[in-house]
Amino acid sequence: MRTSLVFTLIVALMLVFAGVGYAQSISGSDHDFSSESWNSGGEICEPCHTPHNAKTAATDAPLWNHQITTATFTLYSGYDLDATMGQPDGSSKLCLSCHDGTVALENFGSTTTGTNYITGDAKLGTDLSDDHPVSFVYNASLATSDGELNDPTTTNSGLGSTIDADMLDTNSKLQCASCHDPHDNTNSPFLVKSNSGSALCLTCHDK
Ligand code: HEC
Ligand code: HEC
Ligand code: HEC
Ligand code: HEC
Repeated sequence: MRTSLVFTLIVALMLVFAGVGYAQSISGSDHDFSSESWNSGGEICEPCHTPHNAKTAATDAPLWNHQITTATFTLYSGYDLDATMGQPDGSSKLCLSCHDGTVALENFGSTTTGTNYITGDAKLGTDLSDDHPVSFVYNASLATSDGELNDPTTTNSGLGSTIDADMLDTNSKLQCASCHDPHDNTNSPFLVKSNSGSALCLTCHDK
């Protein structure tokens, strides 16, 4: 009896810790808006997600709650790009719904008249020509035509599986979330892995 009680308790604690995993890594980070003056509800997830009346389907991000940007962006054009670039889409468009500086931070839920905007380095603006390109398909044929990219379908990302499985979205597109995990600031600023020795860059670039 006693052993099974202890066992039950351990399982219960494991479930509790698994459940609060997100809150622990996001809490206290730059994405923890629970004590911001513009977030009167004081919740962590709510500026980005909602359990009901979400603004977009689950393909970009589950149950999205923040007003989505309608800006037209100036794209990175580079000097030797092989990929076909288009306007930001998928989860990148959701990041830019705060980081382009055109939508107020508190415009989530039913609020549309906020007055607090992102500032400083975190404001990328609508000119993305000086930022790493996003929202394009990165596949084996791009790796071949570029000649200095690893094949995403076979190269280990260092995060458990291949680059395609761990870092690209369901359409095999590279997005902001290829390099950033908005919930985890272990590798600041919200990087999916440490960039020490350019390890993040060298995951994909064969230099
Ligand atoms: C600053 C905005 C932001 C906040 C705050 C935020 N999220 Fe997210 N979340 C995102 C974005 C953007 C995505 C889609 C990109 C991705 O998958 O990383 C996402 C994806 C997810 C996903 C599905 C994909 C995955 O990464 O597992 C879950 C589940 C999730 N969020 C849960 C939460 C919970 C729970 C909280 C609160 C503790 C939270 N999020 C807070 C922006 C946010
Ligand atoms: C609800 C609005 C919102 C959304 C959505 C959002 N962010 Fe943020 N993000 C912020 C704010 C506000 C800060 C803090 C800026 C500051 O400290 O001045 C921040 C901080 C950051 C930082 C750290 C900046 C620094 O200077 O260290 C990174 C990196 C970042 N966000 C990336 C992302 C990415 C990638 C996504 C999408 C996956 C995303 N954010 C989605 C509002 C948002
Ligand atoms: C190819 C990888 C990669 C992609 C894609 C990427 N970032 Fe970053 N980002 C980084 C790295 C690495 C840093 C840290 C730079 C440093 O510390 O000098 C960073 C820094 C930032 C910062 C902190 C402020 C700054 O300029 O240093 C913000 C905010 C940010 N990224 C948001 C975004 C958003 C939003 C997107 C999508 C539009 C995005 N990032 C796409 C790798 C990436
Ligand atoms: C998830 C994979 C991935 C990561 C991580 C990544 N890149 Fe990229 N990067 C790409 C792809 C794919 C392209 C598009 C190449 C093309 O179209 O020829 C690209 C394009 C570029 C370009 C533009 C090249 C040109 O021809 O104009 C530069 C510069 C660059 N990356 C630097 C970096 C740096 C620096 C880092 C680390 C902070 C980084 N990348 C991280 C995949 C990645």
